[in-house]
Amino acid sequence: MIRKCLFPAAGYGTRFLPATKAIPKEMLPIVSKPLIQYGVEEAIEAGMDTMAIITGRGKRAIEDHFDISYELEHQIKGSSKEHLLKEIRELVLNYTFTYTRQKEMKGLGHAVLVGETLIGNEPFGVVLADDLCEGEKRGVMAQMVELYKKFRCSIVAVMEVDEKDIHKYGVVDAKELEEGVYIIKDMVEKPKAAEAPSNLAVIGRYILTPDIFEILKTTEPGVGGEIQLTDALKAQAQKGMVLAYKFKGKRFDCGSIDGFVEATNYFYNKDKEKS
Ligand code: UTP
Repeated sequence: MIRKCLFPAAGYGTRFLPATKAIPKEMLPIVSKPLIQYGVEEAIEAGMDTMAIITGRGKRAIEDHFDISYELEHQIKGSSKEHLLKEIRELVLNYTFTYTRQKEMKGLGHAVLVGETLIGNEPFGVVLADDLCEGEKRGVMAQMVELYKKFRCSIVAVMEVDEKDIHKYGVVDAKELEEGVYIIKDMVEKPKAAEAPSNLAVIGRYILTPDIFEILKTTEPGVGGEIQLTDALKAQAQKGMVLAYKFKGKRFDCGSIDGFVEATNYFYNKDKEKS
């Protein structure tokens, strides 16, 4: 039902400099897999088959990752290492990857708008690959697709955050509709703790209906001079309905050093338990 997933991956990743000088943040590995591959696997689990990736200058490694490397395949064919390429080879062969470049980094809202040419007029998922999520029983995007089938409107994933961290997030003012599902009345980008309307913070998973593109075209730059997706969602919520969904599972903020190290330890221990 939702076939396409958009991956805005054009940001500079300044918090990871100098590592991100020549390598996109989305290609930093958590154990042996780049961040963006976790996101792609989550989208596939949710039933999506087309990955629409917004890249920028210096991000070519993402395209190379989701392509066949003939030389490498040839080198390791028949060796004990061949199995290490199995997962990525299956992704490359069975799913579609499309790309466009965001030429100026004018914010997440702008990056989503740049994706219009890849998405067209249909609902779509959005994954910010630096938010690494592990769903309980099912992936977070799969949980959101289930909810979309029932309500057919834009949905943002939210989680409860401590007061001391609230200023880092977009925060929703919302009314509970059913357990863990809220109707958004308003949204505030990076509020001071005292001004936050709730402790429900938006994380990097969305399902968006395509009318968001028209709204983004008239959204003025907001906080930090960037076109904020939050502002467009707020307008969409005021015109119709946008839901916030308190997902079931864990989320690691891999855009920050602390979250990245936490995720590395978590997935390392998990892999070790399996083997
Ligand atoms: P962030 O602000 O977390 O990413 O944007 P960043 O700018 O790369 O990181 P720092 O703060 O400098 O370390 C959230 C997501 O939106 C994308 C980023 O790639 C990231 O996945 N994004 C942001 C774009 O694609 N384009 C933009 O203009 C801004």
